[in-house]
Amino acid sequence: MTTHPSDHIDAMLHESRVIPASDTFAAQARVTRETYDAMYRQSIDDPDTFWADVAGELDWMAPWTQVLDWQEPHAKWFVGAQTNIAYNALDRNVARGLGTKRAIVWEGEDGEVRTYTYSELLTEVKKAANALLGLGVQAGDRVTLYLPMIPEAAISMLACARIGAAHSVVFGGFSVSALSDRINDAQSKVLITADGGLRRGNLVPLKANADAAAQNAPGLEHIVVVNRGGSNPPMQAGRDVWWHDVVGAASDAHEALAVDSEHPLFILYTSGSTGKPKGVLHTTGGYMVGTYLTTRTVFDLRDDDLYWCTADVGWVTGHSYIVYGPLLNGATVLMYEGAPNQPDWGRFWDIVQKHGVTILYTAPTAIRAIMRQGDEYPNRYDLSSLRLLGSVGEPINPEAWMWYYRVIGGERCPVVDTWWQTETGSIMLTTLPGAYPSKPGSAGLPMFGVDAAIMTREGEELGPDDGGLLVIKRPWPSMLRTVYGDDARYQKAYWGEIPHVYFAGDGARRDGDGYYTVMGRVDDVLNVSGHRLGTMEIESALVAHPSVSEAAVVGKPDDVKGECVVAFVTPQGGQTVDPAALRAHVSKEIGALARPDAIIIADALPKTRSGKIMRRFLRQIAAGRTIEGDTSTLEDPAVLERLAATEPV
Ligand code: WTA
Repeated sequence: MTTHPSDHIDAMLHESRVIPASDTFAAQARVTRETYDAMYRQSIDDPDTFWADVAGELDWMAPWTQVLDWQEPHAKWFVGAQTNIAYNALDRNVARGLGTKRAIVWEGEDGEVRTYTYSELLTEVKKAANALLGLGVQAGDRVTLYLPMIPEAAISMLACARIGAAHSVVFGGFSVSALSDRINDAQSKVLITADGGLRRGNLVPLKANADAAAQNAPGLEHIVVVNRGGSNPPMQAGRDVWWHDVVGAASDAHEALAVDSEHPLFILYTSGSTGKPKGVLHTTGGYMVGTYLTTRTVFDLRDDDLYWCTADVGWVTGHSYIVYGPLLNGATVLMYEGAPNQPDWGRFWDIVQKHGVTILYTAPTAIRAIMRQGDEYPNRYDLSSLRLLGSVGEPINPEAWMWYYRVIGGERCPVVDTWWQTETGSIMLTTLPGAYPSKPGSAGLPMFGVDAAIMTREGEELGPDDGGLLVIKRPWPSMLRTVYGDDARYQKAYWGEIPHVYFAGDGARRDGDGYYTVMGRVDDVLNVSGHRLGTMEIESALVAHPSVSEAAVVGKPDDVKGECVVAFVTPQGGQTVDPAALRAHVSKEIGALARPDAIIIADALPKTRSGKIMRRFLRQIAAGRTIEGDTSTLEDPAVLERLAATEPV
């Protein structure tokens, strides 16, 4: 096992590996190749019928008059219809006989387990809805949530949706000022938090942070506090109320409010390349239909599955694939509060064994962290309940993919990589398990209704194997509707970069089979003779060479090519780097256009103390500029002088 820092993007290099689902899985797959092909074709050729059919599986309180109203860049889906997503996730499932089925199985970091059936969850959500109404929250308001991974997080989200208030979940790891910024931007009058959340045995002081944030959030009227840790934080009279008091005392009679299909469901703040975080706004009907369909098909959901997504509800994955998508489908969702290494690196596998998890959806970073600890942790547990594995958040490198497939999935479980974004609301690219084989490192094929393409910045569509910008050519139901309070930014960032298409901000490539390989944000992509190349991609090729230990690639302005490739490499212990062999190797791995124009062989790369390579300085050195910027965060600033003095080869 290597520990190269750029391992995680060597994804693109090994697409020749093709891994089909096992015969057993394929034989019973929800979506076969024929079904996928037919459904995808209909979703593109006749989207209105396709989406109306999917939406028709859910309950609406008033019908739509039009499936899509598209006034670029503003979309309205299921125009004029009324519905309620919490009603669809709870009341509807209770009505169809799932009342006694478990909706949420929660495990605290301390090992406490709590279970809610669909009926019990519905009751809690009704009470929470009444409690929020009692605090003056009205339809159209925003409520900020700053909670640990406890059932009350899901209950709060659903309670907001039930009364037509938009939730804005702020990840519990965010700071005080991030929290107050988001409360203010959303103009929330109510904040729901907890005294704390357990993380590696410690109680993260959420209420103390909320108190500090409230100092700078003058519009905040109430803080509702869940007692998670029994830590008795100070409560400000008139402002702060305990969840168990207000929800405990609330009536359990509540009828979900019928809201317009385009009624705001939530705001979720996410970082852009510039400026302050954007409040991505999602609305009700389209998001509901998108998360409902993708959860069922991508995860091949069955009635008896125990589905576990390890994300935090503070991120979009938690919204779409812990709360809304699975509950809309009547699934049993496992929710875990804490860290993957508490008490040790076997925790995930202990949870899988103990609860009989059948579907696991996690992130490459978690997989790599666990992988590094060796096989002995997973090998201690019985993982035979698992039948499907998912990955999300960043490109998954083939090495981690294969480990996940082999050690966790026992070569029995398909691994579905899923590319999507906060903005897209639901999964956009994936390889449906059983329909098509997986290619480790490649996100796969477009989901239903996703009209993806690879384009140049000028809007020219590129063919197979050309790297370019990943765009979506038409609206899809779960897409963001705007940036909250800044529609101009929405128009510019998403539909204004490339004319008439949604610009994802990612570089990608499509192969001859139509599989998309996402190379990462375009900030890290070079443009060499009009071809876009992931710097990580080249780095991965370089470190795959036996003579190379570490590599960092940056672009350098070039009169002819626009940009050319400069590679900084450190030799593997005891080896000499042969530049010609290395160039040939990169040509072989990626293509001649990725061959480094200059290679700088060095004993070390400039890294922060946490091990992050500072490419900023490498770009300056590559361009022959003097080094500018704060070098004090570097582990060894002298590295820069040595690199600058080294002749490229
Ligand atoms: C990256 C997370 C490659 C990508 C759901 C995207 C991925 C950004 C993948 C969105 C994947 C996410 N393969 N890259 N399977 N999934 N990304 O908004 O760069 O937190 O633009 O949404 O993560 O991150 P976000």
